Amino acid sequence: MTILVTGANGQLGNEMRIVTKGSKDKYIFTDVCDEHPESLEMLHKLAGDDVDSSTTQLDITNLDAIRKMVEENDVNVIVNCAAWTNVDGAEDPEIYELVEQLNSVAPKNLAIAMKEANGLLVHISTDYVFGADPYNTPCKEDQKGTPIGVYGKTKLRGEQGVVATNCNYVILRTAWLYSEFGKNFVKTMLNLTSTKPQLKVVFDQVGTPTYAIDLALAISAIIDDYKNESSHFNKRATYTKTGIYHYSNEGVCSWFDFTKMISEYACRNECDIQPCHSDEYPSPVKRPSYSVLDKTKIKSAFDITVPYWTECLRKCIHNLM
Ligand SMILES: NC(=O)c1ccc[n+]([C@@H]2O[C@H](COP(=O)([O-])OP(=O)(O)OC[C@H]3O[C@@H](n4cnc5c(N)ncnc54)[C@H](OP(=O)(O)O)[C@@H]3O)[C@@H](O)[C@H]2O)c1
Repeated sequence: MTILVTGANGQLGNEMRIVTKGSKDKYIFTDVCDEHPESLEMLHKLAGDDVDSSTTQLDITNLDAIRKMVEENDVNVIVNCAAWTNVDGAEDPEIYELVEQLNSVAPKNLAIAMKEANGLLVHISTDYVFGADPYNTPCKEDQKGTPIGVYGKTKLRGEQGVVATNCNYVILRTAWLYSEFGKNFVKTMLNLTSTKPQLKVVFDQVGTPTYAIDLALAISAIIDDYKNESSHFNKRATYTKTGIYHYSNEGVCSWFDFTKMISEYACRNECDIQPCHSDEYPSPVKRPSYSVLDKTKIKSAFDITVPYWTECLRKCIHNLM
């Protein structure tokens, strides 16, 4: 099989490079820019010098470029890790069109290409498709999307665009993603707890952190399942597990609890971390107060075991320190 990964230089994309190292399948790692030197160094540190760190240029807002790459390389699966991920930045009216193109239009482009090639699109989405309603039970896949900001709204439209093409797809909604790569909450808090004597962190927003390598492993399991099923396919058959799924690590915590564990694992005992309310930290987008994802469906469909969030956090911090 040939598998094309978009946004390969981001958090999830780099973890895809690590988990697919040594695979018998052919992987093409694509992005709009070259790998950042800092990420390249981390990638080699974690996965050795022989990990595939090459990047083929592909802008996923360009449907013709996607079609060309899919045709020329006989691509069977696309894993879309590319997105506009800066939630507050997305509120800037000057970049609205860019966010719309990347989060809403581009996923449909990829779905069209996979429909034409009779392949599979694995598209990553977010818990921010929920948000406006006060939930207090874990969100299921069929719960109505109620996004608040531009990021959540454009990501929901991206999902709808994929579904409308009627291609074989797996949409994976995830939450609170962190890794050794790029910018994320864990790296920010490691920095703040080492430089500030005191820190206030919100305790009235609850969710579940997701270590990106665990999500990458779940994606690999989905690709294996698809590979197995499609080996028995007629030419235009539908993948029986086409649908929307939720994936995060196991457990529930607030951003305050998350920060306390980060500082504990990093032995940053000198920083005094205190809980606060969200209104003490006004931001352009109101965050969901409860965005825990229900993972029952993915666990039973793909026989996936999900690790508990603190175990994963410990591993990531070990790699970062
Ligand atoms: N981060 C989170 O907390 C979080 C939470 C829930 C869901 N998710 C979802 O999880 C997925 C992966 O997130 P992530 O944190 O790994 O993202 P990320 O680190 O921001 O990586 C996204 C990558 O996409 C690239 N990109 C930008 N424009 C592109 C274009 N036109 N064509 C191709 N690639 C382009 C970016 O390149 P540049 O850096 O050069 O722009 C970057 O390398 C996304 O779908 C995101 O919405 C993330």
